[in-house]
Amino acid sequence: MADAPLDDATGAADDRLTLIAGIVEEFTRQSAEVHDLDALEEIQARYLGRKRGRLTAVFQDMRDLDADTKRQVGAAANRARNAIGAALEELEKRLRASAAAERTQSEAIDVTRPAVPDELGGLHPITRTLAEIESIFVAMGYEVVDGPEIETDWYNFGALNFPPEHPARDAQDTLHLEGDLLLRTHTSPVQIRYMETHEPPFAIIVPGRVYRRDTPDATHTPMFVQLEGLVVDTDVTLADLKGTLDTFAKALFGPQTATRFRPGYFPFTEPSAELDATCPACVGSGCGVCKGSGWVELLGCGMVHPVLFENVSYEPSRYQGFAFGFGIDRITAVRYGVEDIRYYYENDLRFLRQFAS
Ligand code: PHE
Repeated sequence: MADAPLDDATGAADDRLTLIAGIVEEFTRQSAEVHDLDALEEIQARYLGRKRGRLTAVFQDMRDLDADTKRQVGAAANRARNAIGAALEELEKRLRASAAAERTQSEAIDVTRPAVPDELGGLHPITRTLAEIESIFVAMGYEVVDGPEIETDWYNFGALNFPPEHPARDAQDTLHLEGDLLLRTHTSPVQIRYMETHEPPFAIIVPGRVYRRDTPDATHTPMFVQLEGLVVDTDVTLADLKGTLDTFAKALFGPQTATRFRPGYFPFTEPSAELDATCPACVGSGCGVCKGSGWVELLGCGMVHPVLFENVSYEPSRYQGFAFGFGIDRITAVRYGVEDIRYYYENDLRFLRQFAS
């Protein structure tokens, strides 16, 4: 039994050498499963970590061993640490290289790929016509003004001399909101708003959306775009109105265009008229656009009714003015031969592309 201490020591050494071999073996198995740098960091901590590393524990556990065993076990543990350290370094190198390769691959630009052409957008036909009409009037010295789409009964009707029982006030035409608010049925309320805050002389145009309770069909949409004109000065005549609108029609449809007045009625103008122009499609000979008549209806107009001047505290004996208004939708339809104005609002690219250039 004299050997016992040695046996003990040998036993302790063998146990530890087996343990170290087991750790290395397990490391080898687990490191084969490491495929990214996060897992690498984890396995490094598990085996070589300062606090809980499995091999670190072996070193810490050697304190009580006799010198010989300590040397033996220490040498084995050192070899294991070096082997594991080298394996980890190798693994890290490989993982970094493949991560970089992957990035290069995924971020690669294939310069031989055919380019996808950018599609160029175009202006909506209404926008296009409106811009042209505005520039015609701006060239004549008009200023572009706008006003609210939600109006009061007074601005939309009352101030414009609509009698209380006028059919246009009927709920069948007007979209009413709370109280006496409504969606403006025309751009004419801006005549009043502008005159309330400005002194003549002036010449304005007012483009904007208007709303009516119409069932949509080829010539009606519940929202459409109007353009209003208003000129007030001390010596404005019906001849000025006719001359202005004739100039406008020729600028829009071409110099061959002729215009004619027909009697009309609007509560806010006196006298009132409707203006026709020779059909731009057939220049007056008769076609589908003008339904064979050679003429197209362009707009409503007239001399400003003196009651409006009273409503905005202008001196009615001092001022005269003329006003006109029309639907951009209708004029655009006439201009391009659009048979159904609902197309404007359907966003069908096959329709819209015909105007984009
Ligand atoms: N506001 C009228 C309408 O919507 C058009 C118009 C404007 C008529 C100005 C005469 C003068 O029908």
